[in-house]
Amino acid sequence: MQLPPSLRAAIDRELHGIPLADLTRAADALSQRYRAEVQDGRMHLSDDAAARAYLTTRLPATFAATSAALAAVAGARSDFAPRTVLDAGAGPGTASWAAVHHWSTLESATLVEGSPAIRAIGQRLGLPLAHVSWVAGKLGTALDLSRRDLVLLAYVLDELPETAREALIRQLWTLTGDALVIVEPGTPAGWKRILHARDLLIQAGAHILAPCPHAQPCPLAAPDWCHFSARVARSRLHREAKGGTVPWEDEKFIYIAASRQPGTQPEARVIAPPRTSKAAVTLKLCQEDGYAADRVYAKRAGDSFKIARRLDWGDIVRK
Ligand SMILES: C[S@@+](CC[C@H](N)C(=O)[O-])C[C@H]1O[C@@H](n2cnc3c(N)ncnc32)[C@H](O)[C@@H]1O
Repeated sequence: MQLPPSLRAAIDRELHGIPLADLTRAADALSQRYRAEVQDGRMHLSDDAAARAYLTTRLPATFAATSAALAAVAGARSDFAPRTVLDAGAGPGTASWAAVHHWSTLESATLVEGSPAIRAIGQRLGLPLAHVSWVAGKLGTALDLSRRDLVLLAYVLDELPETAREALIRQLWTLTGDALVIVEPGTPAGWKRILHARDLLIQAGAHILAPCPHAQPCPLAAPDWCHFSARVARSRLHREAKGGTVPWEDEKFIYIAASRQPGTQPEARVIAPPRTSKAAVTLKLCQEDGYAADRVYAKRAGDSFKIARRLDWGDIVRK
């Protein structure tokens, strides 16, 4: 996954002239805070250095993950043509950029962001929509927001105290005209937060669009957990700031997409990397009956083997 050229160019302008050593130092500090899921009352992106490090090393990954989740929504709801989007905990507006990438019908975006440093950068990046309004406010407090066709909450739940999450999900669902998409890091803890959100949304009457092909309890049990992977192209600066050698990284993520309208229900979704041999493809599937199981497609089965061989982690098996 490559960033849209206009976003890539805006990021390059923002980072122009910043010494690599400063970016690397800030990227290290940010990565430690994210890894430890630090909650010390300070926002992770509280200053310019952290905000620029986010642009360099995290935005490409959160864009790729959110984009994959939105692609699943578009696949489940070919009639969905959102005109308005609410991006809660927008950071530099990553999820809104991903939404613009998927739906040319979008006309306006409302982005709520509590950190002045990353909000200022997001404003300068220039989300390409006719109407863009940034709200300088704290999620969880009374904010004057209206219903939007699409509501996004990408990589935010892990920054909120556990006690605040349920109220925020309920509030965002009331603000959802059609679809709500929540994305989290693809860790066991991220999966648990998504499971909790899923339960709340199902109780509130939402239809689950993706990734689950059913609304039964999740069939996975710890130490297993549901997550997916998105391959992200790294810019030269990204590689240098992270000390990486390969021109890509794999971002593990988990998401839930819920809607007021039902979507097309697949037979199953591939929930692990396929295992392929000369004689067969084995897919770990989450199925419409609510169970998860390995399914083996033998080469001698012909067409079903050919179809299975083309499927990847995260894809659906059509009915
Ligand atoms: C990891 S970043 C994700 C940004 C963006 N959604 C993305 O996917 O790239 C989390 C963002 O949520 C913001 N945030 C966290 N808690 C918040 C709150 N209570 N109110 C508003 N923004 C908040 C942070 O400042 C940060 O910009």
